[in-house]
Amino acid sequence: MPLLEEQAYSMRTDISRAPGNQNSPRHKPCSDCKRGVPLRRVVFATIVTIIPESETRLPRKPRGVTAIYPGSFDPITNGHLDLIQRGSRLFDRLIVSVLRNETKQPLFSAEERMAMLNEVVGEYPNVAVDSFAGLLVDHAGRHSATVLLRGIRAISDYEYELQMALMNRRLNPGLETVFLLANEAYSFISSRLVKEVFALGGNISGLVPPSVEARLKRRISQPKRKGA
Ligand code: PNS
Repeated sequence: MPLLEEQAYSMRTDISRAPGNQNSPRHKPCSDCKRGVPLRRVVFATIVTIIPESETRLPRKPRGVTAIYPGSFDPITNGHLDLIQRGSRLFDRLIVSVLRNETKQPLFSAEERMAMLNEVVGEYPNVAVDSFAGLLVDHAGRHSATVLLRGIRAISDYEYELQMALMNRRLNPGLETVFLLANEAYSFISSRLVKEVFALGGNISGLVPPSVEARLKRRISQPKRKGA
């Protein structure tokens, strides 16, 4: 943005020859004129100059980096939470963005997924939760984000992530995708597997935050397992 710099110059201008001077037909003689005192009118002008920011030597405001961590989060797992925690240390602001995509037929609505995220990101002051529909690059633009954060658990994630990163770069070359390797303790966890194991009566404690497990219990009725 160009910087607007306002400079006030006091310009003394001799306007004795300008219209309105003593010799002008429109000049009404005042008492000083009548006494023969020479008059000089002084004009003060304010000049506003537009200076491009690149030409100023003013110290620049440090720019904070905003990153978007997009996903379905249906529901959030401890693997996601680990990435949020590490991302919050890398970037000035991290926005966890829930995809509103009803065609994927999620188990939880976008509002429920956001509520689950909000329940667990409270301890990170630079992390916010939002949702989006449409193109991810447009959502990132609305937040002036310059980074997309994604996690890679295994080589099988790589192809899908590479495709998305290259497509997003083509759509907006100013947006960098940054990958973090998943913590090995969580590298086998996915939202899909968590739901499947839970629905079949398996134990998911330690895989998702306790508040998420409680919501899953209310949403999915588990079969009784022998010996459980
Ligand atoms: O958790 P997921 O399901 O792997 O997340 C996928 C997500 C939300 C990152 C991806 O589907 C996405 O960005 N969708 C938005 C639509 C979009 O921008 N598509 C074009 C770029 S790939």
